[in-house]
Amino acid sequence: MEKEIIALKREKNATVMAHNYQKMEIQSVADVVGDSLELAVRAQETTADLIVLCGVRFMAETAKILNTDRKVVIPVPEAGCPLADQLTPETILEAKRKHPNAAVVVYINSTAECKALADITCTSANAVAVVRSLDEGEIIFGPDANLAAYAQRQVPDKTIIPVPPDGHCYVHTGFTLADVEAARRKGSLIVCHPECPPEVQEQADIIASTGGMVRDAAVGSEAWSVFTEREMASRLRVLYPGRVFYEKPEAVCEDMKKISIEDLRRALEREEYEVVLPEDVMNRARRAIERMIAVGA
Ligand code: 13P
Ligand code: SF4
Repeated sequence: MEKEIIALKREKNATVMAHNYQKMEIQSVADVVGDSLELAVRAQETTADLIVLCGVRFMAETAKILNTDRKVVIPVPEAGCPLADQLTPETILEAKRKHPNAAVVVYINSTAECKALADITCTSANAVAVVRSLDEGEIIFGPDANLAAYAQRQVPDKTIIPVPPDGHCYVHTGFTLADVEAARRKGSLIVCHPECPPEVQEQADIIASTGGMVRDAAVGSEAWSVFTEREMASRLRVLYPGRVFYEKPEAVCEDMKKISIEDLRRALEREEYEVVLPEDVMNRARRAIERMIAVGA
């Protein structure tokens, strides 16, 4: 299977990009493995004719928006993000009516239609830098309320308005103070994703995007409890074999697990399933994504 995938990639001048939560069998044949920001930046830079995005739909849409003249496919089109579905264009427009002077920051975990209404997008790697980069004192921010609260704590001189008020990821809100206690009993430090609840974040040693976890877990403790989707710990174990990484077995993103290695091979062979978005939506969303990329991490 691996040989077939490598041959197909060469034949089609294709690149395979995978998110850190993808199954290890997918990560091992990917050309790029990263967090949402890293995938967006690498998609912007690629010279491949075909991009196969192994992740959830908003990630493939972002790659397409940054590459309108290249073919972008996602092996399983049903791989969505329940957090992204919690923000609608109507919610943003309603918030803009209530707060006409506010800037609109839309998390990359969102639909292309919502990004098209944003002044700027952000990821968990750069939410704080994005908020700081804005002139406005008031910021409409969605859909993740825990990430919004994290940015608010880091940038207290601005007012962040979460939309919807309770947007969340079920994988990350599954982490509790009981997990913190269990991690401490094991003698580990805690690295925590900013989508986790604020009271859990407060107890963490490091708060980071999944890409930040790859960098930060290289230093400091020999043992880390990894408070995010469980595949992240598998990736860290491969990267840092001398260290110990504890995962939470129940922390599984079902959508991230929909893509198998067979699906990836089929996607390369048949060039399926192509991401297609309306031109005007892509043009408006691209401005917001490019503005974010210019801010950096
Ligand atoms: P990262 O950008 O940190 O990889 O997060 C994406 C995501 O979906 C978190 O659940
Ligand atoms: Fe969406 Fe949560 Fe899955 Fe990330 S882990 S893709 S936020 S459902």
